[in-house]
Amino acid sequence: MMTTSLYGSLVPFFLLTALMMAPVSESRKSFREIVSISGGDRVESEGTQWAVLVAGSNGYENYRHQADVCHAYQILKANGLKDENIIVFMYDDIANNENNPTKGIIINKPDGHDVYNGVPKDYTGDATTAANLYAVLLGSKTALSGGSGKVLNSGPNDYVFFYYADHGSTGLMSMPVGDDIYANDLMKVLKQMHQAKKYLNMVIYIEACESGSMLQGLLPKDMGIYATTAANTEESSYAYYCPGDSTDDDPSKYDTCLGDLYSIAWMEDSDANDLGKETLQKQYLTVKKRTNLSHVMQYGNTALSKAVLSTYMGRRSKKVASIPLDELSSSNSRAVLQRDADLVFFRRQVQKAKGSTKSVEAQKRLDEQITHRSHLDRSIKQIVNHLFGGSNVASMLTTVRPGDQPVVDDWDCLKTFVRTYEQHCGRLSEYGMQYTRAMANMCNAGVDKDRMEAASIQACSGKAK
Ligand SMILES: *[C@@H]1O[C@H](CO)[C@@H](O)[C@H](O)[C@H]1NC(C)=O
Repeated sequence: MMTTSLYGSLVPFFLLTALMMAPVSESRKSFREIVSISGGDRVESEGTQWAVLVAGSNGYENYRHQADVCHAYQILKANGLKDENIIVFMYDDIANNENNPTKGIIINKPDGHDVYNGVPKDYTGDATTAANLYAVLLGSKTALSGGSGKVLNSGPNDYVFFYYADHGSTGLMSMPVGDDIYANDLMKVLKQMHQAKKYLNMVIYIEACESGSMLQGLLPKDMGIYATTAANTEESSYAYYCPGDSTDDDPSKYDTCLGDLYSIAWMEDSDANDLGKETLQKQYLTVKKRTNLSHVMQYGNTALSKAVLSTYMGRRSKKVASIPLDELSSSNSRAVLQRDADLVFFRRQVQKAKGSTKSVEAQKRLDEQITHRSHLDRSIKQIVNHLFGGSNVASMLTTVRPGDQPVVDDWDCLKTFVRTYEQHCGRLSEYGMQYTRAMANMCNAGVDKDRMEAASIQACSGKAK
């Protein structure tokens, strides 16, 4: 049972500001939305709380994304969400991975507790696709392929919490299997959910590089959704709790980053505080302060952030741990660019394998990574050079649209360019994803498919990796 007294005095103010902010056309449902943000428990307690948790990667070098998602599950579970209402996407190749020194256990910070135990295996392995994610969000069992069959069976009074952690880039984010999630497709799904009254209010947290590009200029304020992202539209997000590059200086037995900065910031904050007392806005500010290597952003209806965390993360208000944040951030807290975190693992593998039979293989894997990166850098620059001339390469790679515009207008163009590039030059992969910004800029500059294709062939013919 939540206390209303703390918030009672704030209600008139919120009601007033929220009503002033609400467009005239907003329906009765929106009024309820406004009432519910006051933190009052009468309205809130009617709705069921649902969560969709998604780790978009696989591979031991990406340990951290699945660790983040497992940790998120433990928070929701400890605070009272039921397994039947928590839907988890994780490839599930970490706990029993040959590189995992603690088989069957996943941790999300150095010396941390196991976060793997009890995590529902709804969508694992081949079922971790964008198509299944859309089906789950839309509550469409018939559109599923594989998996547990659990979908968002939510209705107009319900609360949905959607958390995603993985690699992203301008306009998209990855899934372990199959197609990426493009921002416009995710937005289409969210709009359908809104129309189908699949939630009263929804909170979205996204950890990914350029994650702001998933929502900027796309998420309307009148859909009952409040979102925060680890980064704005033009920067990396950061892996965290990473070991050093050298096994001599840092004998960490995990050899891989255990978490991501924005993700552990919100989760350790949720662990350490009473969810019935802390607002989403307070959490946003705390996370923003701790995530000091990228810009944590807010999107959608920010008035909803006046709600307490327990509105979405469970009403039991069980405090999981109470560790001052200063203490947590002091030890073993190396941050690494999201797209370079895999190199940490591959380098440590090389050092560990020295003198053993695995040495050649480990070195080969690291070399392949580095060669592939050079190929991606070179081919993209050559394509842009071909289309715009050498003096425009830098600006085409780095330009970011000002203001509140989406990163690209013609989403089909962006998809086509990614496909065309991959057809002639090979997979973009996690490192190469950063170049979707150049592709978005080329689309915005009016390059058509044929010219993109000709440039890709010129840059990569016979050189596809
Ligand atoms: C970010 O915060 C950490 C932990 O408080 C600190 O060690 C680091 O120097 C800060 N980095 C930047 C770029 O401000």
